[in-house]
Amino acid sequence: MRKTLVAVSVGACVVAIGGPVWLGRTPDAPVGAAADPRPIHVTEVPQTAPPAAATTRPPFDRGARSTTDPTSIWVVVNKTHPITPSDFRPELDIVRGYQVAPPAARPLGRLLDASDRRGLGLKIASAFRSYGYQQGVHAATAAARGEAEADLRSARAGYSEHQTGLAVDLITPDDPGCDFEACFARTPAGRWLARNAWRWGFVVRYQPDTTAITGYQPEPWHLRYVGRPLARELRVTDVRTLEEFFGVAGGDYPS
Ligand code: DAL
Ligand code: ZN
Repeated sequence: MRKTLVAVSVGACVVAIGGPVWLGRTPDAPVGAAADPRPIHVTEVPQTAPPAAATTRPPFDRGARSTTDPTSIWVVVNKTHPITPSDFRPELDIVRGYQVAPPAARPLGRLLDASDRRGLGLKIASAFRSYGYQQGVHAATAAARGEAEADLRSARAGYSEHQTGLAVDLITPDDPGCDFEACFARTPAGRWLARNAWRWGFVVRYQPDTTAITGYQPEPWHLRYVGRPLARELRVTDVRTLEEFFGVAGGDYPS
């Protein structure tokens, strides 16, 4: 008999040949958040009929939104794609005392609420940064670490995602020594973010081994709002950068 691998993750738990199959939100999934789109159980099931239509997804439309308009949640901002116009300033909402662009506001609040429910207590350390503010951040980083290292950690003014209002930096009160440090990735809060931020439409924008593509060293604390469909698609396809997903150039500043 022909067999096929069936992997499902939407709905409720049912018993199938070979064991239970979870359909839908995983047992520990956050309330109000999306179910993990990646297979949870992979069960070998004898196949006598074609796979159900529900298991096929329509292709993701990568052209559905602009990647250059700074008001678009899919905008790609990097060292070769500055924000245009350079003095762009989004509409801003307030989340826990910080300014963020409206599309990201409610999802961010819900992500932080979920982290509170789990006792992680993630806090916002930085959100929207104006052109002028980013100039100061970069200058201070360059003064402390030198220009070359500053360019790996901090965008020059006009080149930061923070200026779109769609990026936030989070810290964990349990490990203050890991604020803005690589060890944030190994904290419980950092691990939880890496696994779950997509549920609210965020991605960890600067991941390990992507510096040649993004232009920055890993920043496990820096989340970028892209909306749940894209965050989910990136997770399903295991693509780690917006540059690769959209086929947009990245890397270093043009010399
Ligand atoms: N730290 C990130 C790259 C920024 O300054 O936007
Ligand atoms: Zn950041």
